[in-house]
Amino acid sequence: MIEKFYDIRRMTSDDADAVVELSRLFEPVSTTLWRGLDPDEGVDWIRERLGLPEWAGFVAEVDHDLIGFAICKDMNDDTRGFIFPQANETVHLLYLAVDEAFRGQGVARALLSECEKLAHDWGRSGLLLDIASDNPSLRIYQRFGFEKLGSLVFLRKKL
Ligand SMILES: CC(C)(COP(=O)(O)OP(=O)(O)OC[C@H]1O[C@@H](n2cnc3c(N)ncnc32)[C@H](O)[C@@H]1OP(=O)(O)O)[C@@H](O)C(=O)NCCC(=O)NCCS
Repeated sequence: MIEKFYDIRRMTSDDADAVVELSRLFEPVSTTLWRGLDPDEGVDWIRERLGLPEWAGFVAEVDHDLIGFAICKDMNDDTRGFIFPQANETVHLLYLAVDEAFRGQGVARALLSECEKLAHDWGRSGLLLDIASDNPSLRIYQRFGFEKLGSLVFLRKKL
């Protein structure tokens, strides 16, 4: 058996700077929050969320360097903004990323497994996530056991 080369632990507010540094990993796949993120704002955003009981994060580290993270939020029956009824009773996985140098070695799977344990502890019956349809990670999530609920299409009329 291959020995695990990383540790997984709960994210604390002391990790906020390192997490924001790693948020560069979302630049190719996200057009929203992390794009052009002001680092100070990002750090504040993470610290504030981690101070709330319905938010949690996990980090993967090698020799105390962060190489990946996951952030999730208990939906707690507040499914505003979600069109699918299955969003009830779930934990929303908002962010999952692993440094390019450490991909394909099970780090994301291990982070996800911690999110699943947390969802059980919170009494929830599923994990929910949304992802752009052209994000290559869609296939990876399906390998993790996620199934498509449906899709939301954004349209724009040029005026
Ligand atoms: C998605 C991401 C977190 C996966 O991290 P990872 O540590 O490489 O994933 P794992 O090693 O745990 O692999 C997970 C599964 O996907 C498969 N996989 C990994 N990389 C893959 C790739 N490029 N293509 C196809 N499958 C892949 C693995 O084989 C594994 O399946 P298995 O356990 O059944 O063999 C990482 O690619 C990433 O950070 N991407 C950029 C950010 C992102 O898109 N996040 C998701 C949207 S928020």
